[in-house]
Amino acid sequence: STFIQESATARLAGPPDHAPRTHASHKGSYGDVAVIGGASGMTGAALLAGSAALHSGAGRVFVGLLDPVAMSVDTSQPELMLRDAHALDLSGMTAVCGCGGGDAVRELLPRALSTAAALVLDADALNAIAADPSLQAQLMARGRTGAPTVLTPHPLEAARLLGDTTGGVQANRLAAARALALRFGAVTVLKGSGTVIADATDAPPVINPTGNARLATAGTGDVLAGMIGAALARRRPAFEAACEAAWQHGHIADTWPADAAPLTAGALARRTPA
Ligand code: APR
Ligand code: MG
Repeated sequence: STFIQESATARLAGPPDHAPRTHASHKGSYGDVAVIGGASGMTGAALLAGSAALHSGAGRVFVGLLDPVAMSVDTSQPELMLRDAHALDLSGMTAVCGCGGGDAVRELLPRALSTAAALVLDADALNAIAADPSLQAQLMARGRTGAPTVLTPHPLEAARLLGDTTGGVQANRLAAARALALRFGAVTVLKGSGTVIADATDAPPVINPTGNARLATAGTGDVLAGMIGAALARRRPAFEAACEAAWQHGHIADTWPADAAPLTAGALARRTPA
């Protein structure tokens, strides 16, 4: 079967190659991340993704909130620049879309797909694309330009995009990730135990060996999206950015002290149990 052939050629992801921050660098060297999400009642998801991007080394992090009455400053994370999502210019930025975006994220997707220098699509951004053939065509068009794009579906989001069931995706995870990558011309990160990363090429997919059930808590997916965003913002190629961030995300959970408090998404974003 396809599954057996593909699993025979899958590789394992490894740790990131940590280039030191060179002395003459400045925040522009590490790039700008703009999170688009946080519709009413789901502000936290966007703030978590922003926090993860910040603590993963992004130069500047903007959080564009969709909730019209959202806060304008997060006093516990003053580094995050909170904005009205509709007022953010995404050109030259790495945009991370989804993250508690609800239905409201849909109307910002055409602009993100056409103007963001690099793009991560998660959660409700993926659900909006699954429901709208014109957005699917715009994502494919972006893929043909070669602009860096990473999709981060969990199994249900992948099933919606493929017109399949969660069971169908889970029974054939390598093939499902590859099918999405090839269809949309985007690196695809199919999340869950044994996260699969597929490129839109003939290259075999990668299986991430890190991570554990400590990650089964709300918001850890938003944190992964922010971590990938930070890697893209410092101009790591999309496939490497996805593999390295997935590895790091799982590694933090694997090295979580057994006697520490349970992992939360906020602590994961800060990379510390404190
Ligand atoms: N082993 C390894 N990794 C795991 C495990 C596990 N047992 N469980 C979860 N993970 C990892 C996944 O690989 C992924 O990186 O945790 C992350 C979870 O991401 P999501 O599934 O996107 O979950 P998240 O968005 O953080 O929160 C759940 O998703 O479906 C919505 O509305 C639902 O509020 C819910 C939210
Ligand atoms: Mg999620």
